[in-house]
Amino acid sequence: MTTYLITGANRGIGYEHCRQLLARGETPIAVCREASTELKTLGIRVISGIDVTRDEDVAQLRSQLKGEPIDVLINNAAIIENVTLANLDFESIQRQFEVNALGPLRVTNALLGNLSRGSKVVMMTSRMGSIDDNTSGGSYGYRMSKVALCMAGKSLSHDLKSQGIAVAILHPGLVQTRMTGFSGITTETAVTGLLARIDALNLKNTGTFWHSNGEVLPW
Ligand SMILES: NC(=O)c1ccc[n+]([C@@H]2O[C@H](COP(=O)([O-])OP(=O)(O)OC[C@H]3O[C@@H](n4cnc5c(N)ncnc54)[C@H](OP(=O)(O)O)[C@@H]3O)[C@@H](O)[C@H]2O)c1
Repeated sequence: MTTYLITGANRGIGYEHCRQLLARGETPIAVCREASTELKTLGIRVISGIDVTRDEDVAQLRSQLKGEPIDVLINNAAIIENVTLANLDFESIQRQFEVNALGPLRVTNALLGNLSRGSKVVMMTSRMGSIDDNTSGGSYGYRMSKVALCMAGKSLSHDLKSQGIAVAILHPGLVQTRMTGFSGITTETAVTGLLARIDALNLKNTGTFWHSNGEVLPW
């Protein structure tokens, strides 16, 4: 049995990770700001009241997990806000950086003591954070924050390798969640693919940017 910690676990892709992991016989720990009814219904351990942008919340998460090993840390929580060149809202860009780029790094740093040789860290990024794949512009805050997250994931893959900890930088696909107005593939399909990538993650392929379908994405 493997222990997975998932942020943003109350809905969308985070919730589906919890559901599928439970069905597989693993031990998911759901981390969220506020538990949803469907998450409560799963009957798994939930740590609520954790906003990934707040040092005090993440310190609280760390103290609740003190001494407990985590095999897989899935940094999934994020926001998207539409920022265009015609409407450059710098506060929104900053907010997206706080949640999408700094949040995962803050959580990972706080939980380093729970990771050990063989543990894995996942950064749930987006293809919108690929510079080579940007053919349409726009989305300043989301795109910039996800590029920064990709870079954090890559640096972590180097810095944690000697400790035997592998890092995956994953794009789920366009997935039917609140973030996309429920268009794209189902959360079931996306998470089945994401878990296959996490299962296959090791110290040889650490630091790779994958689509949930197995394609390696360009930076
Ligand atoms: N859906 C897609 O097509 C798609 C595509 C590419 C990448 N992704 C990535 O996949 C991940 C999951 O997205 P999703 O589609 O499942 O989105 P979602 O349904 O909007 O869920 C986002 C999750 O993040 C949590 N969250 C937001 N701000 C937070 C904060 N400050 N602290 C803690 N939790 C916070 C939300 O919690 P609350 O309920 O409390 O707001 C929610 O649980 C994200 O990293 C997203 O960027 C999604």
